[in-house]
Amino acid sequence: MSKREKPDFYAEKARKDGYPARSVYKLEEIQKKFNIIRPGYKIIDVGASPGSWTMYALKLTKGSGLVVGADLKPMVLRESYSNFFFMQGDIFKEETISFLAEKGPYDTILSDAAPATTGNRTIDTGRSYSLVEQVIGLSGPLLKKGGSMVLKIFQGGDEKELIDYMKTIFETVKIFKPKAVRKESFETYFIGMSYKG
Ligand SMILES: C[S@@+](CC[C@H](N)C(=O)[O-])C[C@H]1O[C@@H](n2cnc3c(N)ncnc32)[C@H](O)[C@@H]1O
Repeated sequence: MSKREKPDFYAEKARKDGYPARSVYKLEEIQKKFNIIRPGYKIIDVGASPGSWTMYALKLTKGSGLVVGADLKPMVLRESYSNFFFMQGDIFKEETISFLAEKGPYDTILSDAAPATTGNRTIDTGRSYSLVEQVIGLSGPLLKKGGSMVLKIFQGGDEKELIDYMKTIFETVKIFKPKAVRKESFETYFIGMSYKG
């Protein structure tokens, strides 16, 4: 087993807490600091599979509001929830956005989506940039005025341009690297709050 695969503190904790991925503790840290999920909120989770962030959002919304998970891969949660549905496929398609817009607007858009990686940092950060740019583009049709957005991004590319753009559409923008991010990882999170609409 390589060092990367060895279960660490967070992987063990996720197993014990019943979450399919350790990434839930990144969202938990973000939530504790920025309070972007509340009971009754409507939330979209982009890149939701295998489902830890969605499960955490469902726990915090307390059976009210709506949580929509979207991913290219399938996702099956252990329990069923009346305020949840999953969409497999490309969330950026026009018809998907129109369908989601009918059920919106949303209080929070979460994106832990990560592109397929090659190991080449330039290519990977470029792909991450494009993905984040597309997720930011969902704010216009889907995000409520005053809403928030959480975005995962690979550092080392032109991410400052994205931050600068986010500052034009959100009142507050923060860069936050949770402790649960693996030491060797170059990912970080952008948090946009109070969407200007
Ligand atoms: C790190 S995983 C997300 C883990 C998830 N937040 C959890 O806690 O279980 C990243 C996911 O992003 C998805 N993804 C990548 N590109 C995507 C896209 N264009 N649309 C939707 N999902 C995408 C991948 O399929 C992958 O499942």
